[in-house]
Amino acid sequence: MKITSDHFGVTPEGQEVQLFSLTNDQGMAVKITNFGGIITAINVPDRNGKLDDVVLGHETLEGYLHRSRYFGALIGRYANRIAHGRFCLRGAAYTLAKNNGENHLHGGLKGFDKVVWSAREIQDSEVASLELTYRSKDGEEGYPGNLETRVTYGLTNGNELRIEYFATTDQNTILNLTNHSYFNLAGGGTVLDHQLAINADNFTPVNKGLIPTGEIRSVKDTPLDFTCRTAIGARINNHDEQLCFAGGYDHNFVLRTETETFRKAATVYEPMTGRVMEVSTTQPGMQFYSGNFLDGSIAGKSGRVYIKHSGCCFETQHFPDSPNQPSFPSTLLKPGEEYRHTTSFKFSVE
Ligand code: BGC
Repeated sequence: MKITSDHFGVTPEGQEVQLFSLTNDQGMAVKITNFGGIITAINVPDRNGKLDDVVLGHETLEGYLHRSRYFGALIGRYANRIAHGRFCLRGAAYTLAKNNGENHLHGGLKGFDKVVWSAREIQDSEVASLELTYRSKDGEEGYPGNLETRVTYGLTNGNELRIEYFATTDQNTILNLTNHSYFNLAGGGTVLDHQLAINADNFTPVNKGLIPTGEIRSVKDTPLDFTCRTAIGARINNHDEQLCFAGGYDHNFVLRTETETFRKAATVYEPMTGRVMEVSTTQPGMQFYSGNFLDGSIAGKSGRVYIKHSGCCFETQHFPDSPNQPSFPSTLLKPGEEYRHTTSFKFSVE
């Protein structure tokens, strides 16, 4: 196991940022920058031992500063949308930036994906870890409370990347952290032939603005039924209102057992390379996003142009717009409590 670091660049505000490489004894390597806590690369073997980079992103800091779609980033304070950028907490009303039409998306104009985190390398014989910390001040992007946030990325010899999220606050606040990696297990092309199984019988349908209606709907007899392994592309163009609203999949799946036990959320299999990725989490939901808004306008690593469905995201999370949806699990964090979640991405071959 080893961790190395290199200079990655300087932000427009003059902050220097690093690129860390975590490598395990199997040759799997993960690169992470403390700018936005972004995972810039994950190199994993295929069934013949050939390594490929299975996430979308950029080679330079510049790319992330100017041409990003949250590639690989830590998302906070609130993953996904909050309707009209408004919520009430214990009688007080809060206003957030509207950075997605009428709505607030992924923490606002300068979310956790665009801040510089403090980094510390932690290495032992079992896990190579990078610990990132960030203090978000009371009122930042409109959210209440000083928030102390800590995220650790740990790579094991079992080809597992474990992400642990911790936070505390000094005022009542809301919180929903995730990671926004776009995966493509073939290392190129689109993800339409990837086969996906999701551990969910229900999802949260959305309106045209991709805000949940509040309903919890069964996936049965819909193209969102991934209870058995199915190719992502098999039904993506079906005439279905939910798929039309989103231009593909962009939905929160209600993971089985809403208790916060660590359990499998999804399995993805790529038939050409044999690569398998298992997603496990303590979170109640997972946004499966099939890269619908990628439109060929961004060229990423090795000059590869990212067209629609070039990558897909498995954003483990609390449900979108929960602060305005009384029937959804609560995202309230109070002083004296510790926010704590774990998500892992484990790679193997079949
Ligand atoms: C959202 C999409 C959004 C994308 C931004 C996803 O998490 O669900 O609607 O466009 O992030 O890259």
